[in-house]
Amino acid sequence: MSINILIIHGPNLHLLGKREPEVYGRETLDDINARLTVLAEESGANLKIMQSNHEGEIVSFIGENIDWADGVIINPAAYTHTSVAIRDALSTVKLPVIEVHLSNVYKRESFRHFSYISPIATGVISGFGALSYELALRAMIEVLKGK
Ligand code: DQA
Repeated sequence: MSINILIIHGPNLHLLGKREPEVYGRETLDDINARLTVLAEESGANLKIMQSNHEGEIVSFIGENIDWADGVIINPAAYTHTSVAIRDALSTVKLPVIEVHLSNVYKRESFRHFSYISPIATGVISGFGALSYELALRAMIEVLKGK
């Protein structure tokens, strides 16, 4: 059985490594994607990875992959707290979703405590830096194998 997973990185995550390293760590997005690619290969999963600073591009990417993807791992970044459109796109494709954050959003400003995505997610992983993504991928593979 082959498993197809979308990995979506939201706005400003292309600057990881340079962006507030005390909050987000020193690993770059390429480092994170490389770790995920190795883990996926070991687990027999296929990944499509994208990063965008534009809400509409993320919405389109989710919809375009409706027939390919079995699950979605998404760090919506700032759109977590603002985007009905991304939530609706995820609800439309009706796939398991894992919401990821590098930082523990509940330890931070109160505007980060609200998420449009969490109520429609299978689960949320927040606060483990780059490891959050790895944990999400492991969890998604288990979720999809159990289906
Ligand atoms: C983030 C947390 C968000 O509040 C923030 O806007 C981000 C990154 C995280 O990964 O910790 O851009 O999603």
